[in-house]
Amino acid sequence: MFRLGGDKNNFKKFFKQQKLVSMKYLFELSKEHKTLPTAEVLSCLKAEDILYNVIESNEDVLVIESKNMTDYKIKRLADRLSMTFFVDKLLFSSPPSIDEIRRHASKHRIEEDGSIEIRCNNRSKTVDSQKIIRELGEIYSRDRTVDLTKPDLTLRVSVTKLRVYVGLKKAEINRSQFEERKVQYRPFFSPISLHPRLARTLVNLSMIKRDEILLDPFCGTGGILIEAGLIGAETIGGDIDDRMIEGCRQNLDHYRLRDYRLFCCDIGDIIKYVGQVDAVVTDLPYGKSTTTKGEDIKQLYRRAFKNISMMLKRGGRAVIGLSNRDMMVLGCQCFSLVEYHVFRVHRSLTRYFAVYQN
Ligand SMILES: C[S@@+](CC[C@H](N)C(=O)[O-])C[C@H]1O[C@@H](n2cnc3c(N)ncnc32)[C@H](O)[C@@H]1O
Repeated sequence: MFRLGGDKNNFKKFFKQQKLVSMKYLFELSKEHKTLPTAEVLSCLKAEDILYNVIESNEDVLVIESKNMTDYKIKRLADRLSMTFFVDKLLFSSPPSIDEIRRHASKHRIEEDGSIEIRCNNRSKTVDSQKIIRELGEIYSRDRTVDLTKPDLTLRVSVTKLRVYVGLKKAEINRSQFEERKVQYRPFFSPISLHPRLARTLVNLSMIKRDEILLDPFCGTGGILIEAGLIGAETIGGDIDDRMIEGCRQNLDHYRLRDYRLFCCDIGDIIKYVGQVDAVVTDLPYGKSTTTKGEDIKQLYRRAFKNISMMLKRGGRAVIGLSNRDMMVLGCQCFSLVEYHVFRVHRSLTRYFAVYQN
């Protein structure tokens, strides 16, 4: 809270809080995939009801402008994102030269009080990180102290080939959690499982909100259900293989997830147990290392699309892992295709992740 004394700065801050002034935010993307990190952020912004305009988008960063991105909403975003490193409040961006950085920094002051540290993520060799830190340190430490151990504020500098972005850190994404949940650390393990970071991204692409219902009708070991459960969704899983259902149950219990239901059944039967769901996220068998129980893959996909569209609410999203482009087109007979992402698993295996809307 700010006391409304005669201080001009306090008036300005109070006015900003009340008027919901538009601010620019920077998402420092992991760059581990060409399209998924940006798509994940955009879906999460929508899922968290954040109004935004995209100002700039490339493989390194996403810059948005928003009027309702409160600290609370930033925290909620950071808690669910997986392919982003940091969320910053953008101070400025400039061409990657020391003169330009100096010119912009002297025009953009930091309004927040407190000591500061400066961190630089340099993805380009165009400017030297130490030079940038020295230059910014000189400008921004004029009216505050530098503290490298417990600073109140962290100024983050992202250097890319074409631009430099400078902002105040608002949140850091806990990426190590995904490594800690890797399939080999779970009670039940199978090579068919997705990496938890990818599973989380797929869940996010579905725009599921906390307390909504997410279905994975080909749940296998439960990789998708774990990530959905951890962001607060109620989950339902189905699989034709009873060993998978038992293993999936062990995995969900291992992460202390309670709000789930599992059914050992064929995709054509799950509708008998489940009402309407808010989102579907699933990775269909691809006929190589996973089983289709002898069924022709095209036939299985056809049945999957039909049954998923019957269970998914109108306007809801289905995020589906598929074996090839033709199968993705097949899905368009039941849904409209919003976007798709091509993911190379290894040299001889490419997956397509299609985002459909019902
Ligand atoms: C690619 S795997 C899913 C892997 C899962 N995402 C994970 O993290 O472990 C596909 C799953 O579909 C199941 N399956 C195959 N045919 C099915 C059918 N007709 N109905 C339901 N499940 C089926 C398989 O048993 C397998 O577990």
